[in-house]
Amino acid sequence: MKALILSGGKGTRLRPLTYTTAKQLVPVANKPILGYVIDHIKDAGIKDLGVIISPDTGDEVKKYIDGGRRWGIRVTFIPQGEPLGLAHAVITAREFLKDDDFVMYLGDNLLSHGVKDALRKFRRESPQALIFLKEVDSPKQFGVAKLDRKGHIVQLIEKPKRPPSNLALVGVYIFSREIHDAIARIKPSFRGELEITDAIQELIHMGYEVKSEILHGWWLDTGKKDSILQANTVVLDEYVKRDIQGSVDRKSQITGRVTIEKGAVVRNSIIRGPAVIGKQTEITDSFIGPFTSIGDGVTIRNSVIEHSVVLNNAFLSGIERLEDSLIGKSTKVMKNASQHKALRLMVGDDSTIEV
Ligand code: G1P
Repeated sequence: MKALILSGGKGTRLRPLTYTTAKQLVPVANKPILGYVIDHIKDAGIKDLGVIISPDTGDEVKKYIDGGRRWGIRVTFIPQGEPLGLAHAVITAREFLKDDDFVMYLGDNLLSHGVKDALRKFRRESPQALIFLKEVDSPKQFGVAKLDRKGHIVQLIEKPKRPPSNLALVGVYIFSREIHDAIARIKPSFRGELEITDAIQELIHMGYEVKSEILHGWWLDTGKKDSILQANTVVLDEYVKRDIQGSVDRKSQITGRVTIEKGAVVRNSIIRGPAVIGKQTEITDSFIGPFTSIGDGVTIRNSVIEHSVVLNNAFLSGIERLEDSLIGKSTKVMKNASQHKALRLMVGDDSTIEV
């Protein structure tokens, strides 16, 4: 069993963050989404991982994975010159995959329970494909499945105008070698891509067995469905443990599940979990409320921040109350000290500011 993670694409929906970062590397609770995905692959006992990368962001993804050392797995990087679809990515990875079974995981998708149990089911029942479905509010943005009364798949359609159900295909799939034959028989879709959804539908046409499982845990699709803030809330709620490695002075109060990483300094401040504070971050005379992730090297002075994500090396000072906000890397947000009340902004492209 191998794993194939797709980590290409442009990430237009996550702009402006994705002007400078691959969408799979956007942090959720201070850890890139791709990191959780590789954890899941490792937890499932897979040791041979292929990662599809794009010319734009491939180097950054390679740097983060760093040969897979942290996870103790073997990683092969597979460049995909153009984003011609998920099935095209499988064709690109053919030499790596050989005729082995494999789990394909979109690098911006995250499942609450990983893939361990599903792999067990795949091995036990040995279908040609096992897919995951989840009820969503807006099925038009996804691949959608129509099931019969017994729960067997009748039809799979990519981005249907009139969805036959609200069951979306989750971006995690398990395949046997027959998927390559099915991919060889499909044509590009209306959006000019070779769709994996069409290839799975083709497997059914060819008389192979495609099993599905309805997901009960959460599914985050940060590239599309969920905002980073939502994902941050879910992941902090689920994963954060109380772990205080940084220094906290006597005048500070840390309540609940709060992680404070090495080298962080907290002075005369209150932090209420779930929250994470990154390495070398300094928090002084401030309140950090629940569901907040503060990255590495951040400075926060005399501010109140809640339900927000602050990325590495940002600087915030004198902010009375910041809520539901996403602050990019090395961004400065400061209270204007002069009498003359004016907003002074230097904001990147595709940003949103509410004043
Ligand atoms: C892809 C698949 C789609 C699936 C979705 C899950 O969509 O084509 O079937 O529901 O991932 O994230 P895309 O990201 O290419 O729009």
